[in-house]
Amino acid sequence: MNFKIFPALVLAAAVTLSAPVGLQAQSDDPAAERIPIMRSNGMVLRAAPRASGDEAIAAAQTFVDNFAALPALFEDPAFPGNTQPAAWDNFDAFVGIFDEARQGAEAALAAAQAGDMNGYSAGIQTVAATCSACHGPYRRQ
Ligand code: HEC
Repeated sequence: MNFKIFPALVLAAAVTLSAPVGLQAQSDDPAAERIPIMRSNGMVLRAAPRASGDEAIAAAQTFVDNFAALPALFEDPAFPGNTQPAAWDNFDAFVGIFDEARQGAEAALAAAQAGDMNGYSAGIQTVAATCSACHGPYRRQ
């Protein structure tokens, strides 16, 4: 074991292990669970446009995981958090934006794995467009 890289490994493991929390079907407070996933979206979005190689693959994979986990965490209107009631009035349209984001992320992932950086950028742009498309009508400002 190289002890210099140990803290980095612990951090990587913690980040990896934190991801599946959002995938639990049952949750005590889904509104609280959404926040770190959304913050992860924000952090990944800042780095993703300039990423290449393994970093691009990791960024796209994180978006795939995040957008796969998010819809279930919005199912219960008893936990509005900072979400507008309009999300539950138009739930199919609301969740449809998550689907668009996940599809963009999957396209970016496949392109990054194939070394197709134009395809990767296009997928990331699709994902990036969904943030404001959803926050505009559905997020409390
Ligand atoms: C389909 C809807 C939807 C999409 C797509 C979406 N968000 Fe959100 N986001 C929300 C809602 C709703 C909230 C308000 C918090 C809540 O109730 O979960 C939020 C909150 C946030 C927050 C604030 C978290 C905090 O600290 O309170 C950030 C940051 C964020 N989103 C980033 C992003 C980024 C970046 C993207 C795109 C890569 C994105 N979101 C895509 C709906 C969405």
